[in-house]
Amino acid sequence: MYVYTPFQSFTPEQEKKLRESTSTSTCYENFLTDEEFAFCRKLVMNTKKWPEQGRVAKYWGFNFESGPGPLLTFLKDKITEILPRWKPDFLAFQEAIEPWKLHADIRWYSDKIPYKVILIPMDVEPMSGPVDIDHWPETFTYSFKQRNFLSSWTEEERQRPVGDRNDMSTWSRPYDMSQVEDFVPGYHIPKEEYDANLNHMPYDWFEGVTLEQRHQWKPKSLFYWDNTQLHCADNFLGKGIRTKRSLMVYTILGD
Ligand SMILES: [Fe+2]
Repeated sequence: MYVYTPFQSFTPEQEKKLRESTSTSTCYENFLTDEEFAFCRKLVMNTKKWPEQGRVAKYWGFNFESGPGPLLTFLKDKITEILPRWKPDFLAFQEAIEPWKLHADIRWYSDKIPYKVILIPMDVEPMSGPVDIDHWPETFTYSFKQRNFLSSWTEEERQRPVGDRNDMSTWSRPYDMSQVEDFVPGYHIPKEEYDANLNHMPYDWFEGVTLEQRHQWKPKSLFYWDNTQLHCADNFLGKGIRTKRSLMVYTILGD
């Protein structure tokens, strides 16, 4: 799923650009027209063979020149309208199996600055079976204010064996990761919010973590977060949802 080089940091110049390009996670309702949404949705819904399947998601990564990418080039100008500095890194169709716990998507590149991760909801399917787009059950993606710029690795972390990044059982809670910044002492996610939506990880995973945005999945909408930014899914399985399907666009910072 990821081209991932562990325990690297960006150069000071790269890290400066990475920090300067952060912004608040943002949602655009009705980003796609009815026709554009129906077109993308059909592509995702018709995907039956998934090149990658971890425990957390089924996944098909491609770029604008491969797989279904050429059919999606109409997205380029539309994305430029909301993110003028973007360049495409890669795209993906994703079908959720388990809800993602708190993490940042940040990957290290020697020559690219990761930018925004864009999610375009395509489908929400209850346990009881598929529903039409007007009847998606309520489900969310959360973004938080804490970010990981891959700076300040401890020596102990650099020595640690590299696990499968998609195996969430090996993940640490963010508070114990020296790269994650801007924790606010204490607990700030209301217990009611946790019990209703976020109880797929222990409550202590939210130590020091503060909410930035909660985006509801709606047909035709788009939202993005910083590649460096902590985010997670809601506990959709606990809410009677079998799977969520999405179109993702991973971006890098243009010149
Ligand atoms: Fe993610």
